[in-house]
Amino acid sequence: MGRTMHIRKVLSLVTTAAFALSLASTAGAGDAKKGKIAYTSRCAFCHGPGGKGDGPAAAQLRPPPTNFTTPDFWKNATSDTIKTVIQNGKQGTPMLSFKASLNTEQIDDLIAYLQTFKPQQ
Ligand code: HEC
Repeated sequence: MGRTMHIRKVLSLVTTAAFALSLASTAGAGDAKKGKIAYTSRCAFCHGPGGKGDGPAAAQLRPPPTNFTTPDFWKNATSDTIKTVIQNGKQGTPMLSFKASLNTEQIDDLIAYLQTFKPQQ
């Protein structure tokens, strides 16, 4: 009996620790794999499947969609500025607001995926 209690207690500690770790590893940092799925269905039409700003709609858009593979874009972009644009859109451009269709977790996933387009220095 005493031994069973002990095992239960150890098990519950282990479970709690594993849960805390899984939270820590996802907090703030999105999941690029999930972001890719969202990007492909919602963003690639304009920004292009490889993030080069060359999606099927790009030729018709002024200004053209941002190319995420240039150092120029990443010079000024931070997770916060990207998040603001995804949530609110960009005034005076065809960039839409996704506030109504994407929650903050989905936006973090998208940002993690956009970061995979960043050129390596
Ligand atoms: C209807 C076409 C269209 C769609 C769909 C679209 N974008 Fe955009 N996006 C644009 C255009 C056009 C700009 C403005 C480029 C500029 O200002 O030079 C832009 C700008 C941006 C910027 C800001 C770049 C900067 O320089 O400030 C980010 C970040 C961005 N888009 C991310 C996304 C993400 C993520 C999605 C999908 C959830 C998405 N866009 C969907 C057309 C689109």
